[in-house]
Amino acid sequence: MRPLPSLKGPPAYTTDRGAAFCGESLDLLQAIPAGSINLVMTSPPFPLLREKSYGNQSQAEYVDWLLRFCERVHRVLASDGSFVLDLGGAYRRGVPERSLHQWRILIRCVDELGFHLAEEVYWHNPSKLPSPIEWVNKRKLRMKDSVNTVWWFGKTAWPKADVTKVLAPYSARMKTLLRDPDAFYKPRVRPSGHDIGKGFATDNGGAIPSNLLQISNTESNGLYLEACKTVEVPPHPARFPMLLPRHFIRMLTTPGDIVLDIFAGSNITGQVAETEGRRWLAFDLSKEYVAASAFRFLTRANTHSEMRNLYSRILTGETVDLSEYLYQPNLRAAAS
Ligand SMILES: C[S@@+](CC[C@H](N)C(=O)[O-])C[C@H]1O[C@@H](n2cnc3c(N)ncnc32)[C@H](O)[C@@H]1O
Repeated sequence: MRPLPSLKGPPAYTTDRGAAFCGESLDLLQAIPAGSINLVMTSPPFPLLREKSYGNQSQAEYVDWLLRFCERVHRVLASDGSFVLDLGGAYRRGVPERSLHQWRILIRCVDELGFHLAEEVYWHNPSKLPSPIEWVNKRKLRMKDSVNTVWWFGKTAWPKADVTKVLAPYSARMKTLLRDPDAFYKPRVRPSGHDIGKGFATDNGGAIPSNLLQISNTESNGLYLEACKTVEVPPHPARFPMLLPRHFIRMLTTPGDIVLDIFAGSNITGQVAETEGRRWLAFDLSKEYVAASAFRFLTRANTHSEMRNLYSRILTGETVDLSEYLYQPNLRAAAS
């Protein structure tokens, strides 16, 4: 397995495969050797109108602010690497009019920084609560916003990718067809001009996924939430679901590759990378978020006082090797 690049400061905690750092990502990115990261998967603070506890920027400065990170991401990516950027939508202050920040970032990343748009992906979260309350719930002027844009950039037009690693389950109709292609299927040319031959009825183990990912953000986060409760610290308020980073980690990297999340929050990206046999780096400004994110790697066999002890050691700035606790060097079984 490739070694992780060594950064300037000490990590907050380490596992068999990764390291989490507390600090300003702009600085931490600068310490990473050029071309050494295979995938940067991240979700920055969004330019929401309401100030959140995790330091989001005002809309006007947001695009310039985020672009500075994207520029440094470009430098650290391998030539066949990918940058996956999950961005939520927002309204302009005081009016039911949408902000264009996602599209401004997309265009500037390509035009100014030299990224290539591999594919625009949309993450539909059916369980998202209606917001903003004023336009959606009270005045009934706008529909519920339940789709995030997820820009998948390559450093070239040819980032490493294998869609067969993320096949979707076949539809009931396709399963029937695969059981007995002759009974259900007459090869013909469709009105679109596609020549659908017998090969269409080959079982490839699943369907090619579409660029609309439907993932409810309702997963339990198991031990992470339990441990936050035990230690009496608030869980991260804007976690993305495990299936989102998993999709891109499986499709865009191979075991041993290095995955980086520059706005790691509760470090679900690191947890999934570890589970999938990838190496990982996680950066976040907040010591509290970084300390709580270590819970993701523990097992329930740790006592409450061990969890409290782990949290306070990280908060005091000690580097903790998680193998001192009962942690899961191989989380695969836990995640599947
Ligand atoms: C939307 S949250 C990410 C949540 C994460 N995807 C998860 O599932 O837990 C954004 C995170 O970026 C962190 N952050 C904001 N500005 C930062 C900076 N300049 N450097 C490092 N982290 C930063 C915040 O502390 C926050 O935890």
